[in-house]
Amino acid sequence: MKKTINCLLSLLVLLSICGCQNKTEKEETEVHEEENVETAPQESETEAADGQSLVVYFSRTGEQYTVGVIDEGNTAIVAKMIAEHTGGDLYEILPEEDYYPYTYNELTDVAKKEQNENERPAYQKKDIDLSAYDTVFIGAPVWWGDWPMIMYTFFENEDLSSKTLVPFSTHEGSGLSGFDKKLASAIPSAEILEGLAIRGNDSQNKKDEVKDKVDNWLNKLGY
Ligand SMILES: Cc1cc2nc3c(=O)[nH]c(=O)nc-3n(C[C@H](O)[C@H](O)[C@H](O)COP(=O)(O)O)c2cc1C
Repeated sequence: MKKTINCLLSLLVLLSICGCQNKTEKEETEVHEEENVETAPQESETEAADGQSLVVYFSRTGEQYTVGVIDEGNTAIVAKMIAEHTGGDLYEILPEEDYYPYTYNELTDVAKKEQNENERPAYQKKDIDLSAYDTVFIGAPVWWGDWPMIMYTFFENEDLSSKTLVPFSTHEGSGLSGFDKKLASAIPSAEILEGLAIRGNDSQNKKDEVKDKVDNWLNKLGY
């Protein structure tokens, strides 16, 4: 009888040890799963950030509205902030023949004429393979309520179809000026994400504020 009781007791001890081990393994698995949840990137953070991005921009130095003579264009400043945040490559659109005047008033006349005549000014071709980029940020100053005509030359000459395009502008009151809708009309197969408009004067004189705006906008886009 004593032998049977001893046997039963040993069995109970053995069963309780196994139970403890199982619980410990289960708890460990739960901890790892929780860790995975914490470290796994959220879908919204990766959506736009997959693959390398390109930051294309057009920008003028010389005399500009409200900022006087500048040696770094307003849009160039914003473009560089975007490239720094996203780790993207920069692509500056430069006219093939730089006939744009240095003084603001003369520049507005030339730009107006280009727009009225729906011109397509040529730009310098670069040895960059656009097919390597899924997402292309595209920025320019607002000229007479629209993209500068040279940007349409770029839209029509490069293969931007089926890419994710993100417009940005610098301006002195017109905001994004329909850059997003005009981009969608020019490249209907592209997906256009929410754009950003920055005051040209702020990009020169309130760089910290502008950087915060750029960072917040990019964070919202998943960068
Ligand atoms: C030809 C020309 C036309 C412009 N038209 C507008 C306009 O319609 N609306 C606006 O808000 N700003 C307009 N601006 C101001 C520019 O958009 C602004 O100064 C911009 O930041 C210049 O950028 P950039 O230095 O990169 O060239 C115009 C400037 C120029 C030179």
